[in-house]
Amino acid sequence: MRKDVRILLVGEPKVGKTSLIMSLVGEEFPEEVPLRAEEITIPADVTPERVPTHIVDYSVKFFSLSPSHFFQANVICIVYAVNNKKSIEKVSFVYFTKHERVPLILVGNKSDLVEHSSMETILPIMNQYSEIETCVECSAKNLKNISELFYYAQKAVLHPTGPLYCPEEKE
Ligand code: GTP
Ligand code: MG
Repeated sequence: MRKDVRILLVGEPKVGKTSLIMSLVGEEFPEEVPLRAEEITIPADVTPERVPTHIVDYSVKFFSLSPSHFFQANVICIVYAVNNKKSIEKVSFVYFTKHERVPLILVGNKSDLVEHSSMETILPIMNQYSEIETCVECSAKNLKNISELFYYAQKAVLHPTGPLYCPEEKE
């Protein structure tokens, strides 16, 4: 059994990475957030899978992303804003997939700002990269799917599905 899970949030500036973490921790939407949240550890007994979970925030403006961030992460949440198509188009999946094969989760934040779903835009990306475990649309503002998002991330590490961990079986 794993002793802990390390989740890294990445994505374009201002898509809401820090807000998502603060909403999870504070159970309300923070009007003001720092550029980068301190690393937090959620104790085992309050996580659905009973495993201590570290959540690591990242901001382009704060420090450059070093390979060690990727190597330490067990799962990477790629955050985009559903009202900003560029924020998904600019994500360089090639970059992520050439690193150690960790599961990726696509996170479409700010769902409170749009009526329609962004699934149409991300479906081709999902199909292209087998590392993408799942996708979720959420809102740090109205707390929609926040705990689910971190649960999916935890689950992707603890109960991997798909071809990720058996590449030799991949067609
Ligand atoms: P960087 O640290 O600069 O990379 O940005 P970030 O991805 O951490 O985004 P941050 O959490 O700082 O949020 C950017 C802006 O979006 C802030 O004004 C937030 O209040 C706003 N925001 C974040 N999440 C949501 C959301 O779910 N809905 C809405 N409407 N606004 C949001
Ligand atoms: Mg931030």
